[in-house]
Amino acid sequence: MFTKISYDPLFKLINNEADLVKLAKERNFNYFNNYYSERDHKRVSFRNAISHLNINLRGKVFLDIGPGTGDSLDVAKEMGAVRCMAVDMEPFFIKLLLLRGYQAYLKNYTTSRLTSGFFPAEVGGVDFIWSKGALNCVDVNNGAKNIVRKSKDYIKGFDFNKWIIEMKSMLNPGGAILFMPAVGRRKEKLIDKKYPLTTYYYVDDVESWDRSFFSEILIRNEFSLIKDISKYNHPKAFPTAFLYRNEA
Ligand SMILES: C[S@@+](CC[C@H](N)C(=O)[O-])C[C@H]1O[C@@H](n2cnc3c(N)ncnc32)[C@H](O)[C@@H]1O
Repeated sequence: MFTKISYDPLFKLINNEADLVKLAKERNFNYFNNYYSERDHKRVSFRNAISHLNINLRGKVFLDIGPGTGDSLDVAKEMGAVRCMAVDMEPFFIKLLLLRGYQAYLKNYTTSRLTSGFFPAEVGGVDFIWSKGALNCVDVNNGAKNIVRKSKDYIKGFDFNKWIIEMKSMLNPGGAILFMPAVGRRKEKLIDKKYPLTTYYYVDDVESWDRSFFSEILIRNEFSLIKDISKYNHPKAFPTAFLYRNEA
């Protein structure tokens, strides 16, 4: 049932988190190392959003799409989730989550050409789906107007509307999705000690962002805009999330 991480022979020899972290450090794999060091903030961000939206995770099935180091899964478990799943295409993240005992799947979820869908067929019956900064919605917007992006999406079989519909199909009655889009890279670095945040990824014109192609599709699929949750939203880096609640 669980994904086997087979294309890095060293992973087979690793059976604890400390050794995986050591390997990432030896390889200077800063993508992993940086996320691993942001644990406290990521935990607060998840907890704040869940509490603010009154989402009850007790006895529930949880899925994170694009979890990174997956601090959301740890907090969801602490909040009572009985089953925690994740999908990501980075083997280091998946290996980490498997070591922590979660149901983690290695897959590129923007391609459906060679698979029956975007998400692993084993994933379904979920009560709460969380996805933060894990789908580039600048690319989604470009896919609507730019021929190069459109062709890339065609080759992968990516269509944002279908992606959303498939995500909704994994939900149990009464379930919910909280989707925070990933934004584009800018030239100037944004520093905000209050969030805390140092990033090149943020939105300049939030009003246009909220009215853009990807947002229209989410609204058409009955998502509503979520703003101003402390330490979850950020006025520029994470200005708007999208919430969907399935009928009970
Ligand atoms: C910017 S990180 C966000 C991580 C985490 N959600 C957080 O808030 O810290 C993006 C995550 O999505 C994953 N990801 C991005 N595009 C993906 C794709 N097409 N298929 C699978 N995973 C993807 C990356 O590997 C990474 O774990």
